[in-house]
Amino acid sequence: SKHNNENLLGVVGANVILSIIAGYLTRHFIQEFIPIFLSTKHLFGNDQCKPEKRNIPEPMGIIAAGVYLISIFLFIPVLFFLWIQTGSEFPNLRLNMLLAAILSVTTGILLGFVDDMLDLRWRHKLIFPMLSSLPLLMIYYICGNSTSMLLPKYFQSFVGTSYINLGPLFYIYMGMVGIFCTNAINIIAGINGVEVGQGLVIGASVALFNIIQIYRLDDDWYHSFSLCMLLPFLSTSFALYSMNVYPAKVFVGDTYCYWAGMLLGTVGILGHFSKTLLLFCIPQVFNFLYSIPQLFHFVPCPRHRLPKFDAKGDQKLHMSMAEFEISKTSSLAKLIITIFRLFGLLHYREFEKDGSKWAEINNLTILNLILKFTGPLYEYRLNQAFLGIQIFCSFCAFLCRFYFAYLLYDV
Ligand code: UD1
Ligand code: MG
Repeated sequence: SKHNNENLLGVVGANVILSIIAGYLTRHFIQEFIPIFLSTKHLFGNDQCKPEKRNIPEPMGIIAAGVYLISIFLFIPVLFFLWIQTGSEFPNLRLNMLLAAILSVTTGILLGFVDDMLDLRWRHKLIFPMLSSLPLLMIYYICGNSTSMLLPKYFQSFVGTSYINLGPLFYIYMGMVGIFCTNAINIIAGINGVEVGQGLVIGASVALFNIIQIYRLDDDWYHSFSLCMLLPFLSTSFALYSMNVYPAKVFVGDTYCYWAGMLLGTVGILGHFSKTLLLFCIPQVFNFLYSIPQLFHFVPCPRHRLPKFDAKGDQKLHMSMAEFEISKTSSLAKLIITIFRLFGLLHYREFEKDGSKWAEINNLTILNLILKFTGPLYEYRLNQAFLGIQIFCSFCAFLCRFYFAYLLYDV
């Protein structure tokens, strides 16, 4: 299919050009909107890890997301033109797929923006991403509807089949992927650069995975689709990162976190590689599991869990803490605390307050956990340390996907 390949080059080439322009425009518009956010609209957050109180325009993610949407919208007629040129039957299903993806990502952005404006409750953050991913599940259904999972080869002889069909469970799983992705980035947040940094590393890893798969596989539509959704995301994110990295001139807000998460979930689901996507999100999966006791309020969860800036002392970030009265703590919470301590994953200290016994633990986020191992760090160092781990995990994910998978599966 040489003809097909030329078409692919045209599609990706046009997308690259659009992406580069989008990156420049994002930077330009952010600079233009900084004074509007600050003085005209009073949209700003307080940078909590700095010695003096500073108002930082927030949510600047909406500018990057806006430019992203414009470039994807302009990309539709480009694709349309290239499709018509080939002279073969018009690929309605592919157009539907693109439109469903745009719908999900757009509602993700909207949810994030509303969260920035109104501070939503947890139940909204769970229900709305689920609804947002419904269009994706429908399209997934018409695009082949493969709900089977390949079993590891040693397992196959036991069970007697090589695939197991998960049926409706698979759709529930994909809905969960949508909810997970939307929230996963947002709960590793609060220090300059870390939200966009995650988006960039995971996005670039998935894009690289797509490029590898385009070369390896014959049917490359799913992966070129994902690549074309990701490239303008990467360029606009990069522009945003340059302004959000320490010392931050803008904050990205929940708008960015939900947009990035929803986009990654969308390409993972529609591109049929949601399990590989989760491999690239190992720090996020870990952080989510580690956070569960606080997310489900087994132990108290303060409004902000970001590390604590030591303004009077060494100007570094320290672990932030949650305190609770031991006698009023459930036995489930005590069990989880014991397990975490057993693995060395928790700072724990008991103390006396008003005649009763209290305990303090570090807030259960991966950022605080890093600080537990390294000791206090400067803000930019903690960001580098976390992104270093994220990149290392991506490296391991590639190793898993392309090397260890051969040991387990006949792929
Ligand atoms: C999530 C986290 C919360 C964390 C917060 C930080 C959970 C369940 N929620 O809440 O623990 O404290 O993100 O973003 O894990 N900020 C900075 N420096 C930065 C970025 C943000 O100081 O580099 C502060 C600013 O005050 C900013 C605020 O964080 O206004 C944004 O917090 P928001 O996104 O509203 O918090 P959540 O997403 O609800
Ligand atoms: Mg947030």
